[in-house]
Amino acid sequence: MTEKELIKKAKEVRTKAYAPYSKFLVGAALLTEKGKVYTGVNVENASYGLTVCAERVAVFKAVAGGERNFKKIVIVTDTDKPKSLCGACLQVLSEFASDLEIICATLKGDKARYRLRELLPKAFKRMSTER
Ligand code: THU
Repeated sequence: MTEKELIKKAKEVRTKAYAPYSKFLVGAALLTEKGKVYTGVNVENASYGLTVCAERVAVFKAVAGGERNFKKIVIVTDTDKPKSLCGACLQVLSEFASDLEIICATLKGDKARYRLRELLPKAFKRMSTER
């Protein structure tokens, strides 16, 4: 799975975002260590606070598919500059991958690359007593 293919998948799925309130469509494509791709879109709700971002949908689908080891995630937005991820999504990603590769892309093809650790350097991690 090349980066180009991953971006294409995020772009394709983006059109399925359910965002009648913000009209801001986000597509995500999460590549697992096994080479499988799980996509996600933002799903909004009339009770605004219940909205779930595209990145979290992709992670939850992957976990439900039995995968917890991730290589990279691509996020696509229709913005002038690549958009970063929200704090909630960074925290959810950090549960499974401490140094995930993150690629934020625009529809026009601009890209920004990050590592999860640089965007959320002090992530809250499970307590040592927990399993
Ligand atoms: N959103 C995402 O899906 N991912 C992000 O990283 C930031 C924001 C969604 C949530 C909401 O549906 C819309 O974008 C506007 O905030």
